[in-house]
This record gives sequence, C-alpha cells and structure tokens, in this order.
Amino acid sequence: MSAQPQNKPHSRPVKRARRITAPQITARKGNEPVVCLTAYDAPTAEIIDDHVDLILVGDSLGMVVHGLPSTVGVTLEMMILHGKAVMRGSKTAMVVVDLPFGSYEASKEQAFGSASRVMMETGCQAVKIESGIYAADTIEYLVTRGIPVMSHVGLRPQSMHVLGGFKARGRTAAIADEIVANAIAAARAGSFAVVVEGVSEELADLVTEAVDIPTIGIGASAKCDGQILVTPDMLGQFARVPKFVKKYGNQLEATREAVLQYAAEVKARSFPGEANLYHFKTDAS
Ligand code: KIV
Repeated sequence: MSAQPQNKPHSRPVKRARRITAPQITARKGNEPVVCLTAYDAPTAEIIDDHVDLILVGDSLGMVVHGLPSTVGVTLEMMILHGKAVMRGSKTAMVVVDLPFGSYEASKEQAFGSASRVMMETGCQAVKIESGIYAADTIEYLVTRGIPVMSHVGLRPQSMHVLGGFKARGRTAAIADEIVANAIAAARAGSFAVVVEGVSEELADLVTEAVDIPTIGIGASAKCDGQILVTPDMLGQFARVPKFVKKYGNQLEATREAVLQYAAEVKARSFPGEANLYHFKTDAS
C-alpha cells in the first residue's frame, strides 16, 4: 500500500508557478484564510515564500530591524532598500511594501510619487497605507493609476503620537463606529484588502462583515479573512511582544545558546575544529 500524504501543519504546500496577485487576494474574501507575514531581507523572504500568500515589507522594520522607538522615523529609502531584498528572496508570494510616515499624507500626488517610486525601484506589486475616510481620495487616485493599495485601520502605528501610544483601539462605541467607517471608506475607494490592527474581537468581526474585501487581522479576530504577524515577533526574537503575538519559535534563546557555545569554544581553542580547517595540498597545484 502506498504511503498516504501526511497532513502535518509544516508540510510543504503545492508549488506555485507565479506570484499571487491583488485580485487573487481580493477573491479570498470569505474563503480560505489569507496567510501573511512580514519580511525585511532576502533569506527570510526565501524561507517563508512558499508558505504564505502575501509578504509585507512593513515599516515595523524601523523597530524590529533598525532599533527605532516607533515607525515614525522610517524613510522611503529604507523601505525601498528592504523591498528590493525581499523581492530578490521571494518568487511566488505577493509582495506589498508599506509607504512610511510623511511619504503620502500631504496630497494624492505626493502619494503617487512615493508609491510609483517604490513599485518601480523594488518591483513589488502593491503598497500599504495607514488609512481611513480622510485617505479615500488618495486610495482612489492610486488605484485608478495602476497602484494596488492595501489599507490599514484600527491601531495605526504611524499615528501613535495622536492616539497616545500603541494601545488597542475600538473598545468604545464611538471609536468603533469611526473604525468601521474608515474600513468601509478604504474598501469603497478601491483597496484590495485591509489590515485591521489592535482592535476588540467584536469590532474586528463588525469590520469583516461590513466590507467586501478581505480583512487581514493582527490583534483582531480569528474570523478575519486572513492574519498577519511581524515575523521576528512570531519567531520569538524578542522577550517582550504585544499580547496579540503568539510565539511559534524561540529565536532569542536559540541565538543566545549558539553564541554562548561559540564564545566558549573560541576561548577553549576547540573552534575551528578539523572539519572547519584548510590544509596544504599534497600535490604541487
Ligand atoms: O509594519 C508592519 O509590519 C505592519 C503590520 C503590523 C501589519 O503594518
């Protein structure tokens, strides 16, 4: 009898021939959940490429890669540099790059300039903007000019100084109404999907029912049309992470242990060992 394929959660998915597109993500509304993760470099993008539908080059890179206190200091140049690396490392996941703070809010023309530069220089397929009713004109302007837009409502980290920090949003009726209205406006303006971050589960479910595009939850609800996490957070690279993060690995401990062992072996002169050494060749070459 031939062996049955195992249905392990970590089994490799069917190979895809080409990159997933924005319309394919939109078509997942109410269907199979959309699996998304962030990446900022080529090796990580290569590892996750086959296993996710969408890779976000998030401006969270300011905090998790560059050690900034928030995403406010991230520049367009940083996003382009990391966007290029992720495009080089991935082949079939859809790649979306965040427009950073200050690169799109002044006018729709400014947004088009930044978004077109990101797409032309990185080769990514879409941009993400933190958005709402106030950004509907910008989203429509970008989409009608060939730039797919992913929106981001709820906790908007670029507005942390207005919101008063990184606290969960939408836990009172007034703010909940505002967030639902923001998501509806972003969807009507032509976004292909909307990230819903840091809101009550009840509100996330209301948003998912209210819009006809996929909701991608982070600190939201399992009933969203997809989920995203910041990859270093879910790999356990940091001791402290937000409540909504589940750690699927313990990279912090694994790295510490490896470095500790390396340091001990260097001090004991047991590294490099025979397997890591070159020797004179015996012939004349
Ligand atoms: O910047 C980012 O990584 C994000 C995700 C948290 C959605 O916007």
